[in-house]
Amino acid sequence: DLPVADTAAPSAKTLPDAQKVTSVKHWSDNLFSFRVTRPASLRFRSGEFVMIGLMGDNGKPLLRAYSIASPNWDDELEFYSIKVPDGPLTSKLQHIKPGDEIILRPKPVGTLVLDALLPGKRMWFLATGTGFAPFASLMRDPETFERYEQVVMMHTCRTAEELNYGRELVENLRHDPLLTEIYGEDFAKRLLYYPTTTREESPLMGRITDNMISGKVFADLGLPPIDPATDRAMICGSLAFNVDVKAVLEGFGLREGANSDPKEFVVEKAFVGDGI
Ligand code: FAD
Ligand code: A2P
Repeated sequence: DLPVADTAAPSAKTLPDAQKVTSVKHWSDNLFSFRVTRPASLRFRSGEFVMIGLMGDNGKPLLRAYSIASPNWDDELEFYSIKVPDGPLTSKLQHIKPGDEIILRPKPVGTLVLDALLPGKRMWFLATGTGFAPFASLMRDPETFERYEQVVMMHTCRTAEELNYGRELVENLRHDPLLTEIYGEDFAKRLLYYPTTTREESPLMGRITDNMISGKVFADLGLPPIDPATDRAMICGSLAFNVDVKAVLEGFGLREGANSDPKEFVVEKAFVGDGI
């Protein structure tokens, strides 16, 4: 008689730290979002990032940093991703389908967390491109609105199409029936949205830095200029963007903080490199 083990079907191969893809949405030629199962033990603070990836051709995990775009109460994890044509990871990751597995190292870290800032009245989320992702998490976390009376989401991309993931998310949130019930009809006034393009005509245009220095964003939204007594900010974009926005915020008198030393603003890179 054959031993039982020899007759059993071989078990399906599973990646280390595997999570199953539950949905994928393509927003443009160079952007997509996807959701995966969440490990039961994974705790994170909204705004943090984790390492995710796929198994490389050499049999070793190919991992990259990704901001978690979903809030910490969600039972799935959402990510918002670039597609770099020759990128080692995203040239493959862009082809994932529901039911596929990705690798997720459950060690969340990052500086874009509410605890890294002093209490204040108004929070500014300043992002370019996929730098929107950590704010997709923070805007969907009620804690953000418990700590701040008002949140302003400024997002800038080259083209209008690249704003769509963020636009849909913010507009749904501003008119969310549950949030409106909890916070009242004025909830939409507590979450202001300022999407701009720089290389294609759209209703609002210009770089975040220029719109702050000229005062256009304050005039358009009917807000006073940024003041260290009331305003807090989080920055997430390319290195050049982060450096320039940091200088603008410092010009308004804000200081960079950290988890261990909360102040008025925090910064994180949306990616490493020059962009595509
Ligand atoms: P890579 O070899 O990693 O990158 C190739 C080149 O593509 C880079 O040198 C850079 O010039 C450009 N590039 C890479 N990522 C981007 C990007 N997001 N936007 C514009 N240009 C880019 N990427 C996401 O898509 N979503 C995220 O939420 C995200 N969060 C990140 C958080 C942190 C803290 C860091 C450091 C990076 C994050 N990234 C994010 C970038 C991500 O880690 C990878 O670089 C990206 O997935 C591309 O991987 P790749 O192997 O295909 O190409
Ligand atoms: P612009 O089109 O004027 O360069 P990229 O795709 O190069 O990462 O840029 C994404 C968006 O961020 C673009 O709208 C771009 O504007 C803007 N941007 C790039 N660098 C800076 C910077 N140093 N300061 C402000 N905005 C920037």
